[in-house]
Amino acid sequence: MARRVAGYSRAQVALHWIVVVLVAFQFLAHDAIEASWRAWLRAEPPPADHLALTYMHIAAGSLVLLLMLARIYLRVTRGAPSPPADEPRLLQFLSEAVHGLIYLLLLALPVTGAVAWILGVEASGVAHELLQTVLLAAIAVHIAGALVQHFVRRSDVLMRMFKPEHP
Ligand code: HEM
Ligand code: HEM
Repeated sequence: MARRVAGYSRAQVALHWIVVVLVAFQFLAHDAIEASWRAWLRAEPPPADHLALTYMHIAAGSLVLLLMLARIYLRVTRGAPSPPADEPRLLQFLSEAVHGLIYLLLLALPVTGAVAWILGVEASGVAHELLQTVLLAAIAVHIAGALVQHFVRRSDVLMRMFKPEHP
């Protein structure tokens, strides 16, 4: 997909961790959007006490979409570091596949959420709910992979998402 560089840039590292915080917020504070969505399904207005967090879900999700587009742009124009030279092919494939899946999900989630919310398409709300479960599973595998790289394989893979290569 992209050329290989020695490490991630400052912008790539910053974008990774900002998106992590935004996605964590989406999962930790989802009660409000669910309450508002249930109200919508009953043709009622969103409950007033959930309004602020409902709009924060929409704002954070939309921001994730913009930041993911920026990440894809950087990945294509700048590239990404190679896997460690001694990494088994199967692990390389698994890691690339999970990254690709997370990219796809973080584009599809805001789109399905927006189609449900703005156009009132109920099926899109169902797809949104399904996709967030798949995302949780992908993130669990991703974090497990990062920890295995660091503590079991003792590679530099985890640290390169903390220490950017200049610029
Ligand atoms: C990365 C972006 C997003 C993530 C990770 C995310 C995550 C979530 C989660 C965890 C729920 C609760 C699902 C449940 O347990 O029932 C939810 C519900 C919902 N979200 Fe999002 N969301 C994102 C973006 C958006 C955006 C941009 C919108 C609207 C413009 C939106 C609209 C909705 C709606 C309408 C629901 C209620 C329907 C449902 O449960 O599927 N979401 N979202
Ligand atoms: C919401 C949670 C997360 C999401 C959505 C996410 C997403 C991603 C994506 C899409 C990439 C690929 C970047 C690229 O090469 O273009 C990546 C790389 C990486 N992530 Fe995450 N990540 C999350 C959480 C974490 C956490 C908690 C850790 C640490 C424990 C972590 C460690 C890493 C590392 C080390 C890489 C670089 C892998 C490599 O160089 O091959 N991520 N992440």
